[in-house]
Amino acid sequence: MKRFSLVIVLLAIFALVILFLSIALHNTLYRPEPPARELAREQRLAPVGGVFAGETGRAAALAAQAAAAAEPAVTAAFDGSLDGQLIYERACASCHISGAGGAPLMVASEWVGRIEQGMDTLVANAINGIGAMPPRGGRMDLTDEQIEVSVAFMIDMLD
Ligand code: HEC
Repeated sequence: MKRFSLVIVLLAIFALVILFLSIALHNTLYRPEPPARELAREQRLAPVGGVFAGETGRAAALAAQAAAAAEPAVTAAFDGSLDGQLIYERACASCHISGAGGAPLMVASEWVGRIEQGMDTLVANAINGIGAMPPRGGRMDLTDEQIEVSVAFMIDMLD
């Protein structure tokens, strides 16, 4: 019994020694994280941590989305380009090269009687649509000015 108690005490001392050793070892190995790294990690986590709050949060993103949806699209076709050729090629040529629906082809003979109406009427007809031609050639995002430059380009192009 005496020997047994001695073994228990020795074991207890051994356990304490290991405990203090491990604490000492921990203190020598532990280095506080540099603040820069801590900051960098916070920034990496920010979108997750910032959900539905702050300027970059989901709430702000939704608000911006709603505002964009509420505003009518005011952007003119082709970024508002006033390049008659570009507009003609992208919005008008499909019909006016093939003659679809009786569209006058880009040769002078097809425009006899039309050009005589004058530029204003031609532009007005192109804006409002005429016969089988839909208003603005079907591109409602073309502005009046864009129709005007494309009609001018078409007329200039005739020989
Ligand atoms: C869907 C086919 C189609 C597209 C696209 C189209 N046109 Fe036309 N266009 C026509 C047809 C068909 C006519 C002949 C209409 C008639 O006189 O009955 C016509 C006629 C015209 C005329 C003559 C109008 C008149 O008073 O005689 C002009 C000018 C014109 N188009 C300009 C344009 C311009 C500019 C565009 C592009 C923005 C365009 N068109 C796109 C089909 C089209």
